[in-house]
Amino acid sequence: MNIADKFINQQDLTKEEFVELILLAEADEAVRRRITEEAVRLRKKYYGLDVYTRGLIEFTNYCKNNCYYCGIRRGSRNVERYRLTKEEILECCERGYGLGFRTFVLQGGEDPYFTDERMAEIVRGIRAGYPDCAITLSIGERSYESYRLLKEAGADRYLLRHEAADEELYASLHPKEMEAARRRQCLYDLKELGYQAGAGFMVGPPGQKLPDLAEDLVFLKELGPQMIGIGPFIPHHDTRYAGEPAGSVERTVLLLSIIRILLPAALIPATTALGTLDKSGREKGLAAGANVVMPNLSPLKNRRQYELYDNKICTGEEAAEYRAELAAAVEKIGYRLADGRGDAWG
Ligand code: 5AD
Repeated sequence: MNIADKFINQQDLTKEEFVELILLAEADEAVRRRITEEAVRLRKKYYGLDVYTRGLIEFTNYCKNNCYYCGIRRGSRNVERYRLTKEEILECCERGYGLGFRTFVLQGGEDPYFTDERMAEIVRGIRAGYPDCAITLSIGERSYESYRLLKEAGADRYLLRHEAADEELYASLHPKEMEAARRRQCLYDLKELGYQAGAGFMVGPPGQKLPDLAEDLVFLKELGPQMIGIGPFIPHHDTRYAGEPAGSVERTVLLLSIIRILLPAALIPATTALGTLDKSGREKGLAAGANVVMPNLSPLKNRRQYELYDNKICTGEEAAEYRAELAAAVEKIGYRLADGRGDAWG
């Protein structure tokens, strides 16, 4: 029995075993195929052929953090900053609702303008207007009390990628005021408060080695988040990593399958970053075990300003057009866009 059989039979492995698994899968196509097939089997067992959509509203690109890889980090001088008003956010929801979206994801930099009061006001507005929709927040590290207030205001889910479970890698990608342990604590807080919580990381940022990825997998298993977002690192021209290579699409796709097996009932998006590096990246992600896509509902005029990395897709087209295209693309690979909120299984 090889390491892939062991993984498929018992799901969790030690860090050393995860390294072995990735090495073997990357060297042996038959092993890769076996992993993909198992991932697809589990994805269908829990979610059938359904692909869930989330309307992504990038409502502020101000950020007090200075993550070295990110195009909208505090120190990035050439970013034209913007914030949407509550009214503009509600207009995005209205447009999205009409298009069939039943989850809205409010994503932004860590913008101190959006205090608990202002955020809660926005969440209450969406909650009142769209009682049948899920509200997901993706606004970074906040206090337990802040998360509690926002939950009370009506938020259901929270996305906060842990970025890197390995402390050393985390420290090399972030300024010293940011701490891996603090970030992980936020995720435990969110879970305790009853949010459906999402963690995740980039594949292939500068300095990431296989044991770092293995550590991420061990951490994901331990945390047991309902959602997991991973995408390839893509250099942004105005960061210290401008000249670094992007992460590998193949490795990202393999990790999507491994994560599906590790946490079979998770909601896993085929991310925009994957679609940016490879024009069929999203389809590849879905075929590997992902079951969520997150089209952009931000106002067209702001989309280019939310530039986390270079050549980000979906900055031009109308969301409406894109949804129809997406439905066709998803059907072509044997899945279907689902209606409804698309909550985590169980
Ligand atoms: N390449 C790929 N992903 C990035 N993110 C930030 N910058 C980049 C980049 N250069 C990801 C981070 C963050 C999410 C919103 O986007 O993982 O959590």
